[in-house]
Amino acid sequence: MRITAIEMNALRRAQNIFLPAFKGEPLEKAAFFQFLPSPMRAVTKKFLKEEFTGEDGETKLLWTPRGKNTRIAFFGLGERKAWNTRKALLIPRRMVQFAKREKIKEFALPLSDVFGTEENHAARVATNAILADYDFNRYKETPKDGWPKVKNITLAVEKKLIRDVEQKITEGIIIGEETNRARDLANTPGGDMTPKLLAAEAKRAGKEWNIPVTIFDEKKMKALGMGGILGVAQGSTEPPRFIIMEYKGGHKDQKPLVLVGKGVTFDTGGLNIKPDQYIYEMHMDMSGGAAVIHGVAAIARLKLPINAVGIVPAVENMPSGSSYRPGDLLKTMSGKTIEVLNTDAEGRVILSDALWYGWKYFKPGLMVDFATLTGAAHVAVGNFMSAVFTKKKETEDLLRDVGSKSGDYVWPFPLWDEYLADIKGTFGDLSNIAKSDRYGGAIHGAKFLEQFTGEADWAHIDIAPKMTTIDSEFLSKGASGVGVRFIVELAKEYQKLINNS
Ligand code: BES
Ligand code: MN
Ligand code: ZN
Repeated sequence: MRITAIEMNALRRAQNIFLPAFKGEPLEKAAFFQFLPSPMRAVTKKFLKEEFTGEDGETKLLWTPRGKNTRIAFFGLGERKAWNTRKALLIPRRMVQFAKREKIKEFALPLSDVFGTEENHAARVATNAILADYDFNRYKETPKDGWPKVKNITLAVEKKLIRDVEQKITEGIIIGEETNRARDLANTPGGDMTPKLLAAEAKRAGKEWNIPVTIFDEKKMKALGMGGILGVAQGSTEPPRFIIMEYKGGHKDQKPLVLVGKGVTFDTGGLNIKPDQYIYEMHMDMSGGAAVIHGVAAIARLKLPINAVGIVPAVENMPSGSSYRPGDLLKTMSGKTIEVLNTDAEGRVILSDALWYGWKYFKPGLMVDFATLTGAAHVAVGNFMSAVFTKKKETEDLLRDVGSKSGDYVWPFPLWDEYLADIKGTFGDLSNIAKSDRYGGAIHGAKFLEQFTGEADWAHIDIAPKMTTIDSEFLSKGASGVGVRFIVELAKEYQKLINNS
């Protein structure tokens, strides 16, 4: 997809014009309206009066009498007073979805305050258009006339803003593309996205964007004492991998932002095997890992002046004659032992080694992990946000802000020490599920991870609630790519943080 900026009065030459409109606000008063050719203005006025109310979700298409195929599509937004940035970010997606359905290959739209007023709104429009254009269909036969795709979007802006806006568009496209690559990784079935293949993808991305990537095999992990990762991996015929990406955009002595992603390429639950509905989408249990790999790639493509490290422990969680068992006691790299009470709580077991590695070898300025860790997080927050856990108030505020700016929303949960008592082991240092009951499962998971973060300023983001898309967000079915947009926004904030300290 190409996205470019044009000046407002070039709008009159567009084949298809897409216009968002609030209920009860006459569109003909909007600035761009005067740039439409006069016969179009007249028809449009009448149409708006008689056919279009501006109700949220209402979409109407108008053909105008102008020789060529000129169409105007109107997108109702509802009342302006109920408008917010979350709704704004859905508009480019809604437009792209509509265009795909109507087989409209290109359209122009005025970049107005509908999309927000912050400096980044052009980037957000570009990112979200790219996200909506994505479909995972590489396993399907291509139809004769190809898959529906939008080829061109033009954003009409004031002439003096064109250069600026084009730069923002480029940035937005990068973020959208990397998010879609993360979706590709997550959508790929478990048999075609094993730990080895995930590592190969990280290598490939590293090569493309000039990021050094190191992969540890089992032997190296044994030498390092990563008993958590090796324990979970031992039931699978697929060997585990430990992926490290090191982007160096800052001074060499500047503390890095360390990003850790859960990379379970398929989660059967292990011997505590998952029942059918629960096992269904578990090839996406490496979504955190995918977000980290392509988040780091995006940081490199944007040449952000920070140091960033991506760490992804990649394993498959399988039941077999060689599986780890309930009751097993695993010795992690940190020296702490884990008493396995449930083989399905595998994410925290592999992350124990990854977080400890991140702390020990990189001494991060901030460490954040992304993991499809618990169904309990999904139960707690519903479908619209991820759960964030951190002890430092400043970090919590920072991450909430990053969430709302990026569109990967997060909401804070506590890390009280009361919850630690529940996960103290009987025969090991920690048990991988609470001994008490299931209540507060997302917090128990987070509290467990905290034990492996040393002295790092650390946060955990449970992205299980946002692993897959939902209908109301105008994205195709499957992986959402959650985390990539967040990581880019976080890297920008981290840059400010480092400069101030
Ligand atoms: N990968 C799952 C969590 C998950 C479930 C993510 C659904 C996305 C969608 C994780 O490994 C898991 O199995 N968690 C268990 C933890 C329990 C055994 C304490 C869960 O949530 O049931
Ligand atoms: Mn599991
Ligand atoms: Zn899992």
